[in-house]
Amino acid sequence: MKSRFALALGFSLAVFTTGIVSAETVWLDDLNLSVASQGWGTPHKNQSVDGHALTIGGTKYERGFGTHAEGALHIKLDGGAQKFSASVGVDDEVNKNPDSSVEFIVRGDGKVLWTSGVMRAGEAAKACEADLTGIKALVLEVGDADDGINFDHADWADAKFETASAKTFATSGEAPMAPVAPYILTPSAPATPRINGANVFGVRPGSPFMFTIPATGERPMEFSAKNLPEGLKLDAQTGHITGALKTKGEFTVTLLAKNSLGTAEKKFRIVCGDQMALTPPMGWNSWNCFAGAVSAEHVKSAADAMVRSGLINHGWTYINVDDFWQNHRNSKDPTLHGEFRDAKGFIVPNSRFPDMKGLADYIHGLGLKAGLYSSPGPWTCGGCAASWQHEEQDAQTYAKWGFDYLKYDWCSYGDNNIFSHDTYAVNRPEADANTIKAIRPYQHMGEYLPKQNRDIVFSLCQYGMADVWKWGGSVQGNCWRTTGDITDTWRSMSSIGFRQDKAAPFAKPGNWNDPDMLIVGQVGWGNLHPTHLTPDEQYTHISLWCLLASPLLIGCDMTKFDDFTLNLLSNDEVLALDQDALGKEATCVLTEGNLKVYEKELEDGSRAFGFFNLGSAPINQDFKSLVQFGLAGNQHVRDLWRQKDVADVNAADGVLPLTIPAHGVVLYKLTAAK
Ligand code: GAL
Repeated sequence: MKSRFALALGFSLAVFTTGIVSAETVWLDDLNLSVASQGWGTPHKNQSVDGHALTIGGTKYERGFGTHAEGALHIKLDGGAQKFSASVGVDDEVNKNPDSSVEFIVRGDGKVLWTSGVMRAGEAAKACEADLTGIKALVLEVGDADDGINFDHADWADAKFETASAKTFATSGEAPMAPVAPYILTPSAPATPRINGANVFGVRPGSPFMFTIPATGERPMEFSAKNLPEGLKLDAQTGHITGALKTKGEFTVTLLAKNSLGTAEKKFRIVCGDQMALTPPMGWNSWNCFAGAVSAEHVKSAADAMVRSGLINHGWTYINVDDFWQNHRNSKDPTLHGEFRDAKGFIVPNSRFPDMKGLADYIHGLGLKAGLYSSPGPWTCGGCAASWQHEEQDAQTYAKWGFDYLKYDWCSYGDNNIFSHDTYAVNRPEADANTIKAIRPYQHMGEYLPKQNRDIVFSLCQYGMADVWKWGGSVQGNCWRTTGDITDTWRSMSSIGFRQDKAAPFAKPGNWNDPDMLIVGQVGWGNLHPTHLTPDEQYTHISLWCLLASPLLIGCDMTKFDDFTLNLLSNDEVLALDQDALGKEATCVLTEGNLKVYEKELEDGSRAFGFFNLGSAPINQDFKSLVQFGLAGNQHVRDLWRQKDVADVNAADGVLPLTIPAHGVVLYKLTAAK
């Protein structure tokens, strides 16, 4: 414990050296810290983010703020403080984890006043001092040192202000943005039939085939298909295609949807081979809304809402249960009490999930697919029973119940004793010890899932460790998280979304980078609230995730959709970018001030461009010289959110008018004009 004497001495020295006789000391921990935005966990007063005594480099501190990268606490000083001081560093609770690295930044009125540089676990605290004379708006930031937020537990210890007379300051989590009411850009789908969704679908020979033709338009609607391969049948009323294909091959089918107003048709490629998820999975996951409170009733209601809201008609498919369907190791909640496994070692769901097969059947009956969650360690991230030493049995159980998707989340596998007891061999002479450790549990489950008699999408959740994008496909992964958990703040979403370039070259049909789930609508991890993202930030979020060819998993309570959120999730021209069969992930092709331009190549030879405004003031600019993106001749420009053509532009000397709201986006598709 740092002694009170040392604290007192430090304080009087500071007063002496600045020459200002400070009338007041305002402790940071006496301000409202609960509003701070941070990439993981909740803000803690006088404790680390995990709730331990604040400890940096072996020294304990009585007071301070325990937080996590990417973090920000905005403090309204209005010139009322002279000085800020603190001892900053990574909290010792991360056990010298090598992935832990943070940077503390003190920003006053937009300027960096002090920065710690990159700090790692185990290092001694650095003394932070910043002169605040005249500063109106202060931000205490914790950056992730550009390597993701894993294990970035950050402490502002002994943090305090010297003020002349102010006794407290107002705090907030985000820079205040001018309020913008939700505004809808996309026209409703027409009453005439239109077939939406991907134009390619992968399945393995012998696996149950399940595909619902996503079509908008007035009901009743009658579905039919030309050249449907042998083994498949189509229900004309529901548009559900079921059955199985015996042998590998590629089949081009024509799908038709007819109502009293007309008929739509679409070419659809069925590829029967080793690969599934030929386009990024689209669906819903229980975590960002219900977290540890999820129940089978929630999941059924979500499935019902996916149909009732019409989202199923835009290609949304998976209904995924996250953590907490198993029994818990020590929860006080009686609904989570019970045996972890039966006498033969098969996993037993908790009392909130009395009939797993019934649940999957229910979801399938609606034309949707079902997903589940586990961990390679003995416990899930939330402390429920997981798959360690039962991997094969669990894969069999998921298949027997009828699940179509597994999210497999690292967590307790990280405990050293687990790895050293795991005898599963990884034959990778080229890989270093860390990479082998990262690969091993995923290769293990990745061996058993493909042996099941149904297609189970394998979603790796290990936050990007050991550059998972380089090897995730080799362990049968269909998608892999590239980052820590997302939260519903601009800082979290933008710092994840705009940092995906290094993984981008590894995305391809069957293998997708996953920057985590969507945070629009009513989210809250068990404590629902409307997303904290502004409407423009939400347009940015959906545009960026679609450009990134990311899995799209809605994270909100779908029984509480509002028109704006539903509209955001049902723009077929925007979703088509995500579902494009070429499977390329967009990268950043230009950064100019607050403007970032992302480009995605599309199967039909056209390109999508996201013009993002990362600043807090609107951008009004005539964008010139599209030739810098390798474009030539006249380009046909389509505004995808408005589903409207904009005037054609000549790549060499034409001008693309850009009006981009603060934190917002303009999303265009450019096609060479004929
Ligand atoms: C985290 C994971 C979240 C959620 C949670 C469940 O590790 O990243 O998406 O699955 O565990 O406990």
